[in-house]
Amino acid sequence: MPPERSLDRGSSGASRRTFVKATSAMAIGTGANGAVVGAGESKADADPETTVDIERLLESMTVRQKVGQMTQVALGEAGEGFDPDDPFETHDEPETVGALFTDLHVGSILNGGASGPTFDGEEFVAGLNGLQRYAIEQTDHGVPFLWGGDALHGNGLLDGCTSFPQRLNMGATRDIDLVEAAAVQTGSEIAAMGGHWNFGPTVDILRDMRWGRYFEGHSEDPMLLGKMAKARARGFERNGRVAATVKHFAGYGTPNTGSDRAHARTSMRDLRTRQLPAYARALEEAKTVMVNSGAVNGKPAHVSEWLLTTVLRDRYDFDGVIVSDWDDFLRLLTNHEYRPNTDEGWRWAVKEGITAGVDMHMCGGEVSPAEFIETAVDLVESGEIPEDRIDESVRRILELKRELGLFERPLVPEDRIGSLVGGARDVSARLAKESLVLLKNEDDVLPLEGTERVLLTGPGIEDGTPNRFLMQHGGWTLGWQGVEDGDLTEDGPRPRQTTIEGAMKERLGDRLTHVPTEFEAAPYESIYENFDNGFFDVTDAQERAIRKAAPAADAVVVVLGEGPHNEGFGDRDKMRFPEAQRELVTLLEAATGDDVSLIGVVLAGSPRGTAETFDRLDGVLFAGQPGSDAGVAIADTLFGDSNPSGRLPFTWEANVGHVPQCYDDYPPRQSVDAGAQTVQFEFGHGLSYTDWSYAALTLSSSTIENPASNPTITAQVTVENAGEMDGEHIVEVYNTKSYGSVLQPRRRLLGFERVRVAAGESKTVVVELDLSTLEVVPDDVPGWKPTVVEAGEYELSVGEETAALTIEKTASLTDPKPAPGRGGSAGSRCDD
Ligand code: NOJ
Repeated sequence: MPPERSLDRGSSGASRRTFVKATSAMAIGTGANGAVVGAGESKADADPETTVDIERLLESMTVRQKVGQMTQVALGEAGEGFDPDDPFETHDEPETVGALFTDLHVGSILNGGASGPTFDGEEFVAGLNGLQRYAIEQTDHGVPFLWGGDALHGNGLLDGCTSFPQRLNMGATRDIDLVEAAAVQTGSEIAAMGGHWNFGPTVDILRDMRWGRYFEGHSEDPMLLGKMAKARARGFERNGRVAATVKHFAGYGTPNTGSDRAHARTSMRDLRTRQLPAYARALEEAKTVMVNSGAVNGKPAHVSEWLLTTVLRDRYDFDGVIVSDWDDFLRLLTNHEYRPNTDEGWRWAVKEGITAGVDMHMCGGEVSPAEFIETAVDLVESGEIPEDRIDESVRRILELKRELGLFERPLVPEDRIGSLVGGARDVSARLAKESLVLLKNEDDVLPLEGTERVLLTGPGIEDGTPNRFLMQHGGWTLGWQGVEDGDLTEDGPRPRQTTIEGAMKERLGDRLTHVPTEFEAAPYESIYENFDNGFFDVTDAQERAIRKAAPAADAVVVVLGEGPHNEGFGDRDKMRFPEAQRELVTLLEAATGDDVSLIGVVLAGSPRGTAETFDRLDGVLFAGQPGSDAGVAIADTLFGDSNPSGRLPFTWEANVGHVPQCYDDYPPRQSVDAGAQTVQFEFGHGLSYTDWSYAALTLSSSTIENPASNPTITAQVTVENAGEMDGEHIVEVYNTKSYGSVLQPRRRLLGFERVRVAAGESKTVVVELDLSTLEVVPDDVPGWKPTVVEAGEYELSVGEETAALTIEKTASLTDPKPAPGRGGSAGSRCDD
């Protein structure tokens, strides 16, 4: 057993512990002005005099202390607050929260599930500051901890927060700048809370609506997803105090069975052209990566040296921290049955995970931090993991802490968070409006004039506590599965919000009749017994009320959809609406005359709804999960103050049996001529209250000699608003025809631009086209060659307008070498 290094012997002979402790104590000691950092300040404000020497610190640490730094521990809600004396009830060892630092030297804590020990901002900061002060003052090295959490569509950890539209909605806006602005707000709030690490953006491509995390994807298009994720990572990190996380690397979004954490449905070609490029874009901005809980091509990602080292480190030059997902070394045994679930199996999992490249293990509820630390220390002492490998990880972790300014300013002012929570209202309202997708508008039933008598109905009211708003926020909002995990109390935390009922009432007053129907959230149920993501019903009394109100109504707005959900509990086997909702629409159809407009508003984190229901409705607005400003956005759109402009970021199949289909599938989509019946709404579908037409599509260059030296060109097109209402419109340029050495996707998005055009006017719009979106992995099945844009003719289209692009030379833009690992230790030889 190699001797552990002494705490007190730094390379200069001076005590490292003394050095770091003095530094931190000084920072804290100078009081609120000198020792604290606030949102908006950056590491550049750090005093270089107090900048820690990472190498000296590392040298002075024992193996146990180092492995402690590699340990992240989830603090539960109950009994495990920020007080060092709070019992650490999740496991027997250690006994208190404080002992996590003094005894185990853990490097990081997290509050998972978008809920911490308190929902009050100022209490949160005070608690976190107190614990940080304790960790610094009471531990040998005084190394501050990193706090991480999931603020995934706004800072959904605090009462009164702005819940920005969910990721699916963000994708529908195609508005990169606005999405980034929302992320800046979130990052500022995390920093002001005393936090350092946001576990987002999610960069998992959408390919299967059955997956319970579908609401977390931004799109099924790799370029749109990558651009959104990159902008969000940049936004989270803008203040210099917060690290973003590219997750879940890689292939998490394509579970083979549609179930969370399953093996990925992918091939080398799919992985390299559709999945990895989005992560690669986001990696340009994010300081950390979280690993895919699933498996790729037979190998669990957490033990894939190919993914975590060969691709991530060697190919993408990523030098930040790689964190495991929740208890995922254990999940290798319990979920993937990779090794027997025995002590020996666990030891294998830890060894292989660290060897593959994981820097920090997230200990959720199942694995005790002491257990992880003991195992890892033992592996080092037995020589099975070289200490150098541990040093690499700890160096990255300490470096991250240094970069975020933790050594210089471990504490934050306690009075900043109050003014930030619930902010960025304009950004949130605009995002919500831009994200609404008008799916159907027969006979221009929408917009409403505002003079109608309207019956508003749909899922609803739970005993005493109105819970309609649960459907508008989705998961990761003041609770893992949605607000208070769907189990609402009267005085529980709430996001700042406007509701559909509230906003419509404000406009219509007495002309609005509201008959809510039954809805109970179903957190923790779906994977076992409820695939509707909620329990829905219409009572006899509600049915009577609807029958009574319907004849007097000029229009009916019926809210349909699904409840909040998350991860495996959100998995579903249905696309059609729950039975009670389908019957409700049938009832409304029967109870109203032909002259009454029947309008559906869909609140869901997935393409929920089929023709069976949509055919009965005159108008359908897909609202997704628009968050805090759902009410105002939906009412403004229904009444025409806002002209809908969102475009679907995914393909909406006709039925769950047709899942998965994507707009960029290789032809044929289905058996010959069946395509039209298998897809209900195409990727990019989205109607408007005005008419848009295109003319004069031209390219900045119609011939490119070498795309590697000319990776972007522009398309120019005239967009006319030929209708009677001002509006915004997203111009999308697709590649619609091309031939090469492999099948070409049916369509490929090359660029997009959102423009505003007044009624009756035209605008010339310039769209930047990213030619790397044309890259393929050429040649035969193995899929190992460098990705290239192949020489040939490419038809580019904007609506019916087309232009030809000629590429003269086959060239690689993003991945000029053969598949990473080919012939190396983590790859296998594959001769063509
Ligand atoms: C598990 C989820 O998969 C991950 O996305 C999240 O960041 C962690 N839990 C922490 O809450």
